[in-house]
Amino acid sequence: MTGRKDRFYYLAKSRKYRSRAAFKLIELQQKFSIISEGDLVLDIGASPGSWSQVAHEFSGSTVIGVDLTPFVEENWMKFMKGDILSPLFPQKLEAFISGLGIRKFNCIISDAMSHTSGVHDRDHASSYLLCEKVMEIASMFLDTGGNMVIKQFYGDLTAGFVRKWEEKFRFSRTTSVGATRKGSSEVYIIFKGLL
Ligand SMILES: C[S@@+](CC[C@H](N)C(=O)[O-])C[C@H]1O[C@@H](n2cnc3c(N)ncnc32)[C@H](O)[C@@H]1O
Repeated sequence: MTGRKDRFYYLAKSRKYRSRAAFKLIELQQKFSIISEGDLVLDIGASPGSWSQVAHEFSGSTVIGVDLTPFVEENWMKFMKGDILSPLFPQKLEAFISGLGIRKFNCIISDAMSHTSGVHDRDHASSYLLCEKVMEIASMFLDTGGNMVIKQFYGDLTAGFVRKWEEKFRFSRTTSVGATRKGSSEVYIIFKGLL
C-alpha cells in the first residue's frame, strides 16, 4: 500500500489522534463550521474514533459513536455497536440514547464506509446505500437547525443524492479535503440548518 504513512499519519500520532482521518474533519470544520460549542454530536461509522475526538474538541460535549467495530470509550464518548443497515438500528439507537437522556442531536457526522473492493461502481453503490441510511437516521434524530457532514464514494448517484436531500436544509455543499489520499473518489457532503 503506497503512501500509508504520509505526513497526516505522523501528525495524527504526534497529536494523539486515533487516525489520520481526524484532519479531514478538522479541515471541514474550519471551512464550514459544522460543529458548535455545546452541540450533541452523533458520529456514524466512528471507529477507531478520531472524528469523535475532533467533534469533542469543538463541541466540548459528549459524543455518541456508532460502528460495527467497537472502539475504546473515553469519559466524554459513548459507543454503541450496531449496523446502520439493520432495520432494527433506529430502535436500538433510540433506546441507547434515551438511556443517556438524549432525544435528538445538533450534529450528525458520518465517515461510514465498507471495505472497498477496488471496483468503482460497486464501491460507489455500497457507499450510496450507507449514505441513504445515514439520511434516514438523520430524519429521525437530527434536531431542527442541525448540521451534517457525510462521506460518499463519488459516482453517478452522488448528484441525485444531494438534490434529493438538500431541499430539507438551508445550505448544502459537496467538497473534497486535502487529507484524502491521492486517487481516492471520496467526497464530503455538507448539509447545514435542517428546516
Ligand atoms: C473510514 S472508517 C471511519 C474512521 C473514523 N471516522 C475515524 O475518524 O476514526 C469507516 C467506518 O465505517 C464503519 N461502517 C461501515 N459500514 C457500517 C455499517 N453498516 N454500520 C456501522 N458502521 C459501519 C466501519 O466499520 C469503519 O469503522
